[in-house]
Amino acid sequence: MDAYYRPTRAEISLDALRCNIEAFRSAMPAGTLLMASVKANAYGHGAVEIAAEAAASGADYLGVAFLDEAVQLRRAGIATPVLVLGYVPPSGFALARELGISVALFREDALEAAAQSAGAGVPPLKAHIKIDTGMGRLGVLPEQGAAAFIERALCTPGLEIEGLFTHFAKADECDKTYTRLQYDRFTDVVDYVKKHDLPIPVIHAANSAAGIDTPEWAGGMLRLGIGMYGLYPSEEVNKRRFELQPVMSLKTEIVMTKTAPPGWGISYGAKYVTKGNERIGTLPIGYADGFSRMLTGKAEALVRGVRVPVLGTICMDQCMIALDPAADARGFGASGPVEAGEEVVLLGCQGDEVISAEDIGAKLGTINYEVTCMLAARVPRVYVRDGRAVSVTNPLT
Ligand SMILES: Cc1ncc(COP(=O)(O)O)c(C=O)c1O
Repeated sequence: MDAYYRPTRAEISLDALRCNIEAFRSAMPAGTLLMASVKANAYGHGAVEIAAEAAASGADYLGVAFLDEAVQLRRAGIATPVLVLGYVPPSGFALARELGISVALFREDALEAAAQSAGAGVPPLKAHIKIDTGMGRLGVLPEQGAAAFIERALCTPGLEIEGLFTHFAKADECDKTYTRLQYDRFTDVVDYVKKHDLPIPVIHAANSAAGIDTPEWAGGMLRLGIGMYGLYPSEEVNKRRFELQPVMSLKTEIVMTKTAPPGWGISYGAKYVTKGNERIGTLPIGYADGFSRMLTGKAEALVRGVRVPVLGTICMDQCMIALDPAADARGFGASGPVEAGEEVVLLGCQGDEVISAEDIGAKLGTINYEVTCMLAARVPRVYVRDGRAVSVTNPLT
């Protein structure tokens, strides 16, 4: 376990992760493979630890955004198949071959580069062909040569085509008209593959939202991201189908308390000024940890199960909370004043109160995905199983 000395940490529940994976697995049609999306440091949760736990929970594939992320997993000893969902330049093909990493294929020059580097004794480059059915990001357009591209890829020496996939743009919306259109476009391509008996083992389309609302459109593999982390892709998906458990909590401790006199400025710019004698707590977390300065005037914290405001400007490494009489009236008073050393929750539950990634996202004008991804590398991740810390990662120590 890595050491950490500042009492700020993200607690990552491996039990919740497992439950969420099992919930999706049991809700998908029998035989559907599961890819755990661990890109962006596993949406902030820690790529290597989440990948290892997902693999141990039966994930068949891991998904990442860049080759570098896949290399990190292999170097950590993770042998599960990995697909790079984003662009890999031909300069990375040799390493991908050597490490058995699969790449997404959607560019003509990638076929040429793969052919050039093929040779006796060189392992094949594993690849999944990406079709753009309406995301407008990566992928070959169905009407502009998808079938021919697939045929060429299958004939390219040195390539092993493992899969064919697409990505839905609006699967998290209530109205499924657009997703149906994307699914139909993809089905046309898949029908071509089937009609011509083209050997492509895994055909996949669904993200978490499609896994929740339209599992019948997933194909042979669900690419599970946000749902695995216990968060819903949107408020519009059918949340009643799954009771997901959030995997990440963000916790810290009060490192100083004081009663500031009336008219006392709190934090940079003295934007908050005490009205009377106000009890203030200082927290060792700030915007450099991913607790965004844009939450200034909006953020809340949980202390003794009571919701309190963050006061004044959020600094780079610290911020202040109100331990005021109003909060006292709601519960502090009974057990004496809040003191340094007491736990504070900034994301997650304490007592009956919850601050969710959606709450924070709404305050920032963003989505829950970005809230967990924002958590900085310098925040230690403490992995918890059965209520016990089983490992800690802290790149600083
Ligand atoms: C191609 C692809 N598939 C699957 C996913 C997982 O999506 P989600 O986190 O919504 O489940 C992503 C993530 O954005 C993705 O880019």
